[in-house]
Amino acid sequence: MRILSGIQPTGRFHWGNYFGAIRQYIALQDGHEAYYFIANLHALTTVRDPLRLRRATLDAALDLLALGLDPDRATLFVQSDVPEVSELCWLLMTNAPMGLLERCVAYKEKKAKGLTADAGLFTYPVLMAADILAYDADLVPVGEDQVQHIEVCRDLARSFNHLYGDVFAMPRAQLMESSAKVPGTDGEKMSKSYDNTIEIFEEPASVRKKVMRITTDSRAMEEPKAPETDHLFQLYSLFADAPRREEMAALYRRGGFGYGTVKKELAAVAEEFFGDARARRRELEGDLERVEAILADGAARARRKAAQVLHRAQQACGVPVRSR
Ligand code: TYM
Repeated sequence: MRILSGIQPTGRFHWGNYFGAIRQYIALQDGHEAYYFIANLHALTTVRDPLRLRRATLDAALDLLALGLDPDRATLFVQSDVPEVSELCWLLMTNAPMGLLERCVAYKEKKAKGLTADAGLFTYPVLMAADILAYDADLVPVGEDQVQHIEVCRDLARSFNHLYGDVFAMPRAQLMESSAKVPGTDGEKMSKSYDNTIEIFEEPASVRKKVMRITTDSRAMEEPKAPETDHLFQLYSLFADAPRREEMAALYRRGGFGYGTVKKELAAVAEEFFGDARARRRELEGDLERVEAILADGAARARRKAAQVLHRAQQACGVPVRSR
């Protein structure tokens, strides 16, 4: 089984990225051939500051390695280091229906807000399809918000295969049920664009501050509360082990406690949860040459695979490359 996924370096990774995606990347690197990349070309649709983008790309690599992505077990690389993908994107674009892209949520939302969208945002899902198809990926671990994009990828692969023969493998999304949508500090989906994130490697004091500001309802302390529908409890459940989770759920049902108690527990359990990764990240920061070498090696491995698939696609649609 070949696994592939990408993550944008648009800012520091947050809890939503971790529980929605990164945790799965790490779990899936065992027993599969896994490719994970930092989607800096996608990030160009929102980050227009070159220094910031370079720094965020390196930070993304540091974060992923510190969290447990193992370059001996998975191929880690930067999207722009594999130019074959952009070429493949064009081939897919020639057969991508406008209507299909117009239905994509990121573009639709921007349009609905009356903002001007550029061609990069409009064709974002096609580049994403190229990312996936270039590696013959079978499984794409993602959070719920990316499922539509995987469907677009499947549509594009299907119609390309229909026209030109069996060129692309058919990928599918792998969603983690328990954490399909990690809520942010306001209860909406945690996302940089909603300004409701808590970053994985944020200073503990700053995490505590944000946790204390998580919105809660205003029911009196004595009243019993339903844990299932409470986003503070949902966040707590992501970090706590089963016995602690059960204990907290029982406290909710019993009532007679303040949300401040839960928040303090959440901040403590989160700090403990990412403690080892925080130490590993500090070590890696002191050895950036090693990180660069890991990325260069990952790029070489990824390019080998993507070149094969691009060649196949070029042959199939009548644009073979003469010199190679
Ligand atoms: P990105 O960078 O927005 O997010 C990376 C991953 O994190 C997940 N995620 C969440 N999951 C649950 N709850 C949340 N609050 C939350 N916030 C983020 C996302 O679902 C995603 O899996 N277009 C992609 C990057 C990409 C890609 C690809 C992914 C480019 N090419 C090819 C897979 C395959 C994106 O913007 O993800």
